[in-house]
Amino acid sequence: MPLNPTIWHFHREEDARRYINFFDTGISNSLTLFAPRRKGKTALLLHDVRPLAIDRGYNVIYCTFWDNKERPAQALLTAMELANTPVSITDRMKSLLTSPVKNLSLSVSNIQIGVSFDPVNDTENDVLHKLTRAFSAIANNSKRTLLLLDEVQHLATDKKFGPLVATLRSAFDKYQHKLCALYTGSSRDGLHRLFREQKSPLFNAAQEYPLPDLGAAFINFVCEQFERASGRKINLNAALKTWNTVEKSPYHFMAIVERMLTNIETDIELSTKDYLLMMDNDPTLKKIVNNLKPIDKAVTLHIEQDGEALFSQESLKRIASHLGINEVSRSEVQNSVRRLRGQNIICKLGEGEYGIEMPEIVPLITGS
Ligand SMILES: Nc1ncnc2c1ncn2[C@@H]1O[C@H](COP(=O)(O)OP(=O)(O)OP(=O)(O)O)[C@@H](O)[C@H]1O
Ligand SMILES: [Mg+2]
Repeated sequence: MPLNPTIWHFHREEDARRYINFFDTGISNSLTLFAPRRKGKTALLLHDVRPLAIDRGYNVIYCTFWDNKERPAQALLTAMELANTPVSITDRMKSLLTSPVKNLSLSVSNIQIGVSFDPVNDTENDVLHKLTRAFSAIANNSKRTLLLLDEVQHLATDKKFGPLVATLRSAFDKYQHKLCALYTGSSRDGLHRLFREQKSPLFNAAQEYPLPDLGAAFINFVCEQFERASGRKINLNAALKTWNTVEKSPYHFMAIVERMLTNIETDIELSTKDYLLMMDNDPTLKKIVNNLKPIDKAVTLHIEQDGEALFSQESLKRIASHLGINEVSRSEVQNSVRRLRGQNIICKLGEGEYGIEMPEIVPLITGS
């Protein structure tokens, strides 16, 4: 259970401003926020980008496609409906309201337009049709609309989501002056599949924008909040050490702090050790590690140290030495990479370049 963000969220105004400025200046209307897992992408969208965008005059709609994994188009339509986008009624909107509209009902209350639908009986085509109409409606609003689309890599997991991806692409192309999109998700590999593969309808549709790691200011803030909440102090240097130990993951850092609050603990070093021990014994992670082939472990450890030029002779030699053998072939490593990517343990960052997507697994592999 994450700590209440109204108290514990460290605001990243600078980062949020960079994204909104990008849209404001009209350089592009679509960005993809890239960062490894659990670095705070969703928190940034919800608690920094959303409020700032509203202040800057955007209508903002947040949607995570994991809200309805089977029918992500419905997840988006629901998000649009719940956002209850305030609309100042322009002349075009008035005409839209008075004309009979099949498959789309617009409800008006306090000058707000909602798109309603029937989640049970609507076919996929109905939903896509309504989405298209909803995009057209919000594009006719006097304000620009920013869609924050989370777990968007989910759309690359099944061919049947292709029409939704195409609908998104065409809406953002057609209404580029009125609609902006900030895409993100929890798998960089999946995001690459959507935005970098030529056959994807979203190929090159968005500029990639990396999210920098949180730093010492974040640790300082959390220590201060901890003192305010508990009356106890955390040693700042020890907290910074923990921060490095957990690979600068706010998720793991906050989980340790949360345990310190509930266990009435002040020693962060001790709590970190306990936490890591608990992770070592996490049954889900253990199962994943137990099912890895020796070469998969060696490849993961190699990428953890150096993810570039994975198929170079030097890398192949180092992977072999991790395994205690003389050589491994390129195709063996390629097969291993495929297995590891399939489990979101690693991701492809560029040609021959790979990164770790599940850092918590590394100590378990080292200790196995
Ligand atoms: N700015 C922040 N201030 C305080 N805590 C944060 C912040 N950002 C992230 N966290 C903590 O880290 C946790 C994970 O953050 P979040 O879910 O946003 O990461 P993510 O990058 O979206 O993860 P995933 O890759 O799994 O989608 C949050 O639940 C929260 O506890
Ligand atoms: Mg997330």
